[in-house]
Order: sequence, then structure tokens, then C-alpha cells
Amino acid sequence: MKVTIIGGGGRVGACAAFALQCGGLVSEMQILDANQAMAEGEALDLLHGSAFAGDQRIYAGDYNRAADSDIFLITAGLRRKPDESRLDLINRNVALFVQILESIKAAGMRKDAHVFVVSNPVDILTQLAVQRLGLPWHQVYGLGTMLDTSRFSSLIAEELRLAPSQVKALILGEHGDSMVPIWSSAAVNGLPMTGVPECSPGFQNAVFERTKGSGAEVIKRKGGAGWAVGIAIRDVIHAVLLNRRCLLPVSSLIHGAYDVRDVCLSVPSIVGSRGVEKHVEIKLWPKELTGLQNSGRSLLETLAKVKA
Ligand code: 2OP
Repeated sequence: MKVTIIGGGGRVGACAAFALQCGGLVSEMQILDANQAMAEGEALDLLHGSAFAGDQRIYAGDYNRAADSDIFLITAGLRRKPDESRLDLINRNVALFVQILESIKAAGMRKDAHVFVVSNPVDILTQLAVQRLGLPWHQVYGLGTMLDTSRFSSLIAEELRLAPSQVKALILGEHGDSMVPIWSSAAVNGLPMTGVPECSPGFQNAVFERTKGSGAEVIKRKGGAGWAVGIAIRDVIHAVLLNRRCLLPVSSLIHGAYDVRDVCLSVPSIVGSRGVEKHVEIKLWPKELTGLQNSGRSLLETLAKVKA
């Protein structure tokens, strides 16, 4: 599988490339970036490790060498300022993103190619990609609340001194201020998380608020997230590559699940070789359903303001 990483000279793109290199399944990675020197530097740095890491082909290229890409991973974009919401980013990033979409089409993207959006605001940009690329909706998806789900599960495990790999706690909806914690299905090794004595309502609120603020917390300290994003990206790409049909909270165009439609956000989705195979309307608590529908409304309002 060939992945072209657009924005691969930046922190998120480079961390994704490193996670995919260590994952050993993707056979070819092309690093594209407006900053060609950074693209070349990251490709070279990754290539230097290939003798120990694995036999992937890794190189800095350009759109002329992108036509045979199986997945276009778009991480390019300006980062949020610590006090800026993701949606505030929208107008700064939309112009750049539309240009990237045009370049992908001009490069001769295959009809069966996938476009995987990470740039923020990811739900809005994923929808722009669905609207403008002319690919089937299931081949265009965004990282959505995958990173939030990883943060939520990891922070719960950290606070409750549990094994992170045994904690499964979903975040759904917008990758942004209206994201929704799904305590109804949160579990530790299959046992209800809400049954853990220390998992009080106060603890639940505190760990969710910290999850929601994690992006800004990292930006404030190191300028932007990278490692956890890279792992989340790797998991989606591996689900496609292996046709795992695993259930992931990726962002895609919703057409009726939870009574949400015509907007991209994260609902439980089966991810395999076709991309988002289907949405699974797992039963939620009433307040979780309301939160999800609120996410949809908030994103539709923002979409209406997009000057694309
Ligand atoms: C974050 O939450 C990059 O949007 C990503 O850090």
C-alpha cells in the first residue's frame, strides 16, 4: 500500500510516517510538503532507519508522483493557538485545504483512492473533501475523535492506575468543543467503567474536561500534538490495509445514524478496505444522543459560514 502524506514535513505528518514505518505494513510512503527541504529532511531521516525498521520505500516527492497513491493522508495546515478553538482555524485552513484537493485531483487520483483528513477542523475539512473530490463518501474519512478516544482512554487508565490497553472509552461527535464522552459503553477489560468505585461522577467530569482540553494542553507546552496523533492515524490506515472491519470513531459523512445527516462527524464506524464500510448505531444514553446531535448542529452551523 502506498500512502502519500501531504504535510509530511510537519510534526503530525512526520509522526504519522514514523508510526507507519514502525508498524511495518505500509510498503511505500511519499512525503509531500510546501516546505520541500522539510519533506526531504523527514524522508531522509526515516530512510536512515529503514535497515532496522523495515523494507518500506520512503521518499520526498511531489504531486506528479502521487497518482498511484492508495491513500492520500492530509495533515497539512496551520496549528491552533492555545486559546483558539479548532473551528476558529477554519478560514485560515480552508483556502490551503481546497488548494490541496485541487492538486490531488490534478495529480490524477485513482477512482478507488482514499483521502484521509487529519488537518483541522477535521470534520469540516472532511466534508469539503467529500463535496469536492467526487469520490464515494466511504472513501473519504477524517481522524475525527480517534485521538480524543485515545486520550480519554489513556487518561482514565493513568488516573485509575489501570492497564491502558484494557481501557476502552469512546469519544464521539465533533473533534472539537462539542465532543461527547460515551460512558455508557466505557469498560475496563469488558467490565463497566462506571462500576469502578473511583470512577465517580466528579472523576468522570474531570477526566473528560482534561481530555477535551488535551490538544491545547499539548500546544501550550510543545507547540502541537504528534506522537498520539501518529498512532491514531496508524490504526486507521492499518484497519484499511488489513481490511480489519474494526469499529473506530472516525469522521465520515453521516446519512441518518442517530438522526444526524449531511454532516461529517464521528459515530461508531466499521473501517476496512473500502474505507468506512458502515455506521453502527450502538444504543447510547439519552444525554449522549443529545450531545451527538448537538455536535451535528454545531458543525452544520459552522459549515454554513465556510467561505470555500
Ligand atoms: C489535537 O487535538 C491535532 O487536533 C489535534 O491535538
